[in-house]
Amino acid sequence: MRAQPKEKAYQRAMRPPVEGTYSREHGASGERLPSGGSLDAGFLARNPLRMTSEALARGQERFDIYCATCHGVLGDGDSAVGRKLASRPPPALYGPGGFAGESGNPASSGLRREPGYYFTVITEGYGLMPSYASVLDERQRWEVVAYVEALARSQSAPLASAPTQVQRRLQELPR
Ligand code: HEC
Repeated sequence: MRAQPKEKAYQRAMRPPVEGTYSREHGASGERLPSGGSLDAGFLARNPLRMTSEALARGQERFDIYCATCHGVLGDGDSAVGRKLASRPPPALYGPGGFAGESGNPASSGLRREPGYYFTVITEGYGLMPSYASVLDERQRWEVVAYVEALARSQSAPLASAPTQVQRRLQELPR
């Protein structure tokens, strides 16, 4: 009886996942992206995604669905829900005196904290705000963060930093 057939973990007994199974956390492609970090370990100072207009457009779409209801379409905290949440209104997601960004100039990134901090808040929730990890996979969360980064920059950007055609369009807008 020294050798008996028996099932051991990680051998035949553990069946492979059904074909086509994928981790919801890691999205349909199964790609792994870094997490945002933590208070103890520190937060990622840079968004790991390559910033493309497609990534930003997807981030905007998710932001408008999941975040704008409370934080406002501009992320400035002005929303119909926010106005009713008088005791604890959703904060503006950017503003002066925050995270310095790569240039080391606190005025330049516009973000309050590192991009990784935003990722972690979306993943884990924050106080009254619930986690959005069940509806946004890792890539979508980083895309939302990328869009918030773009919002933060756009709100304090000098007109001269925009391409000439964009400057012209902006100057034609009614004030
Ligand atoms: C239901 C309303 C609601 C929605 C939707 C919501 N938030 Fe929030 N969020 C809040 C509130 C309220 C707080 C402040 C919580 C507190 O202080 O207890 C907060 C806090 C935050 C903070 C922390 C701000 C700080 O000063 O540290 C970040 C970052 C944030 N939200 C980002 C997001 C993003 C990104 C989304 C979309 C994925 C989102 N939130 C969706 C209500 C919301």
